[in-house]
Amino acid sequence: GVAFLDGQYVPMSEAKISVLDWGFLHSDATYDTVHVWNGAFFRLDLHIERFFGGLERLRMSIPFDRAGVTQVLHNCVALSGHRAAYVEMLCTRGASPTFSRDPRDAINRFMAFAVQFGSVANPEQLERGLHVSISQRMRIPPVSIDPAVKNYHWLDLVRGLYDAYDNNAETALLLDFNGNVAEGPGFNVFAAKDGRLSTPATGVLPGITRRSVFDLCAEAGLVAEALDVSVEALLGADEVFITSTAGGIMPVTKIDSKAVGNGKVGPITTKLKDAYWAKHD
Ligand code: PDD
Repeated sequence: GVAFLDGQYVPMSEAKISVLDWGFLHSDATYDTVHVWNGAFFRLDLHIERFFGGLERLRMSIPFDRAGVTQVLHNCVALSGHRAAYVEMLCTRGASPTFSRDPRDAINRFMAFAVQFGSVANPEQLERGLHVSISQRMRIPPVSIDPAVKNYHWLDLVRGLYDAYDNNAETALLLDFNGNVAEGPGFNVFAAKDGRLSTPATGVLPGITRRSVFDLCAEAGLVAEALDVSVEALLGADEVFITSTAGGIMPVTKIDSKAVGNGKVGPITTKLKDAYWAKHD
């Protein structure tokens, strides 16, 4: 892969930052990821927009405008030569030259990189549907306080993943502070019941794939709503799927020991998944 760091394009192995960077010490950073499939970005403008929204909320500034970041990302991909890539843009608070504890003294650090990557779900998982475990852990407050800032607070998600592996599942779903379903490590979730779709409204990252699902539902004449999704509603759904830039629309056919619907990938999921990938041509 190729990274852009401190104004230069370098091989991934040479992309290094100081351990005194607040991004590392305090998770004081924001980022966004976008994928390249068949050599092309998908909805890059929306990812750039979300990234700049995070920068503004965190009062960080970078020496590029939207067009400049777009160009850096294109350059990383072109230099890497990858046709399928995981592309990330990020900004950390940076380090304070005097080690002061005032964030205004830190020099914000913008970085980007492109690494070769296929999908978070393999073809077999996409065919049979993923097995998910509902973690009793709650998605941590920073995410609920300002979910629009895409952040690196993943302690809860990673612990949720270990819980899931202990339960012989492949990934985890975390709850919000009211005990409703929130999101998982890198994805949003949808449930379909009697032809209507729902996805958690609050306390989750407003995913761009989630937004694509709303667009696709509108085009297909399906009702999709953002509302509270209880654990019971999820377990009683006909179909469940998760959404992420890194995997698109991925079916879920088992939640803990219970089959979702008839345990097979359902027609709504298949229809939306096909429509989603058709947009990539
Ligand atoms: N993850 N929720 C969280 C906590 C995420 O990190 C992500 C994205 C999503 C889905 O958002 P989107 O559809 O915009 O990708 C939801 C990225 C892909 C990652 O793990 O790098």
